[in-house]
Amino acid sequence: MQTRTLGKNGPAVSALGLGCMGMSWAYGATAADADEAIATIHHALDRGLNVLDTADVYGPHTNEELVGKAIRGRREQAFIATKFGIVPHPTDPAQRVANGRPDYVRSSCDASLKRLGIDTIDLYYQHRVDINVPIEDTVGAMAELVAAGKVRHLGLSEASGATLERACKVHPIAALQSEFSLWTRDPQGNGMLDACRRLGVSLVAYSPLGRGFLTGAIRSPDDFDAGDYRRGSPRFVGDNFSRNLQLVEQVRSLAADKGCSPAQLALAWVLAQGEEVIAIPGTKQRSRLDENLGALDVRLGAAELKALDAMFPPDAAAGERYAGAMMHMVNV
Ligand SMILES: NC(=O)c1ccc[n+]([C@@H]2O[C@H](COP(=O)([O-])OP(=O)(O)OC[C@H]3O[C@@H](n4cnc5c(N)ncnc54)[C@H](OP(=O)(O)O)[C@@H]3O)[C@@H](O)[C@H]2O)c1
Repeated sequence: MQTRTLGKNGPAVSALGLGCMGMSWAYGATAADADEAIATIHHALDRGLNVLDTADVYGPHTNEELVGKAIRGRREQAFIATKFGIVPHPTDPAQRVANGRPDYVRSSCDASLKRLGIDTIDLYYQHRVDINVPIEDTVGAMAELVAAGKVRHLGLSEASGATLERACKVHPIAALQSEFSLWTRDPQGNGMLDACRRLGVSLVAYSPLGRGFLTGAIRSPDDFDAGDYRRGSPRFVGDNFSRNLQLVEQVRSLAADKGCSPAQLALAWVLAQGEEVIAIPGTKQRSRLDENLGALDVRLGAAELKALDAMFPPDAAAGERYAGAMMHMVNV
């Protein structure tokens, strides 16, 4: 398994991790998928992939329980990353807000440890920055978890370069998790990737397959189950869907020329953006995991990277990557 160093001096972790969110949440997951999801986690560990990415909000809570069940008896093979800090709005539970209060950091960690059935979380992220709590206070509480042996490494998700810099002054931050893919190139344009390089922080690319779209497998909004989150996500609705489909056709064509799948091309592009980048594509199916791991063997030359950059300028995708209030919670 190809590995990359987590943070400045952290452990070597698999260059591709496994995003576990869709096994329980967001993408139309059903209870019937759980067996294959657990088999997929086992298969990942068998193949030497160790980074398993979850969060307390996925489900909520059921995804951590599922990951916990899957790693029972195999704890040492897994590198468990989970997150805290996205909570229901107190008066409108359909909306989400960030909570970075120190007491909440502590109680969330204990609850995640219990659901995962482990003594120590390998990488603990603040899922979204809470603008009402100084980052120093939140990271200070996270640092206490490291001192207490409950957490090994700290991370932030969707924090700006400036916030990351402040956080690093309190405690080393090993990873910044952000959406990063051919159609979401924000970390390159907003200084996040540069800040990671300067501060010795890994950039963990989530939704590297564009929530499945860049694989070419999604041909129509009708492909989504009734409860699928993407039905209401700006890039997947109306005209945006059709316009974005044209982009995907170009990925399919380049992938065909290269002799790989569109998913492999999309992942190879992410990994080619720098040695500090780790990608965590999500799948609940073993066959797709194998396909995605094949991206590790796809080498993109300068001309191919240039062609992909030309196909996907920063504003190429039609539609924002999040709707409404969730968009305001990123990069703060
Ligand atoms: N920090 C954050 O705020 C944040 C936000 C979103 C996600 N994440 C994390 O990042 C992980 C990955 O992101 P993501 O799941 O949103 O998006 P993604 O990895 O870009 O795409 C996942 C989707 O692609 C499909 N897929 C995967 N491999 C495929 C292949 N080879 N061919 C066709 N379809 C394929 C999956 O379906 P199947 O499962 O059916 O294969 C799933 O619907 C999540 O699981 C989660 O852990 C973090």
